Amino acid sequence: MKPNDMRRLSTALLICLALAACEGRPPASDAITGGNPQSGLKAIQRYGCGACHRIDGVPGAYGSVGPTLEKIGERAYVAGKLPNSPDNLQTWIRFPQRVVPGNAMPDLDVNETDARDIAAYLYHQ
Ligand code: HEC
Repeated sequence: MKPNDMRRLSTALLICLALAACEGRPPASDAITGGNPQSGLKAIQRYGCGACHRIDGVPGAYGSVGPTLEKIGERAYVAGKLPNSPDNLQTWIRFPQRVVPGNAMPDLDVNETDARDIAAYLYHQ
């Protein structure tokens, strides 16, 4: 093999490895929230998240003020700001105005337990 071919081959190999590494990254939906998805579903209905969001499996949740929460586990960022993780998702749900001041999602006084359950539901819907 000529040196040029070798170089091309190793570049191709590196690209494959890099792609494999990205593909192999587990989606955030595999993350452990420690919450209870069933209670999360009830909390989502109680707080009325569906008025602004489309949410899989939640009757009447067809809102379009905010982005759809379907497949939120596959999103890299929460609200385009926080790297998607169970902790960050819960922080957002509880304190959206602290994370992105002035955005259209109000602080809804979601307590810690409800935020954990809601995150569990959203990741596993
Ligand atoms: C009054 C409308 C409104 C209500 C009610 C509301 N949201 Fe939101 N939500 C928004 C808007 C607008 C955004 C986009 C904010 C941004 O990106 O700056 C958002 C963003 C989000 C995001 C990030 C989505 C993404 O694509 O990154 C999550 C998660 C979320 N909301 C969850 C909830 C939950 C859970 C509730 C109920 C406890 C709720 N929201 C209630 C308007 C609302």
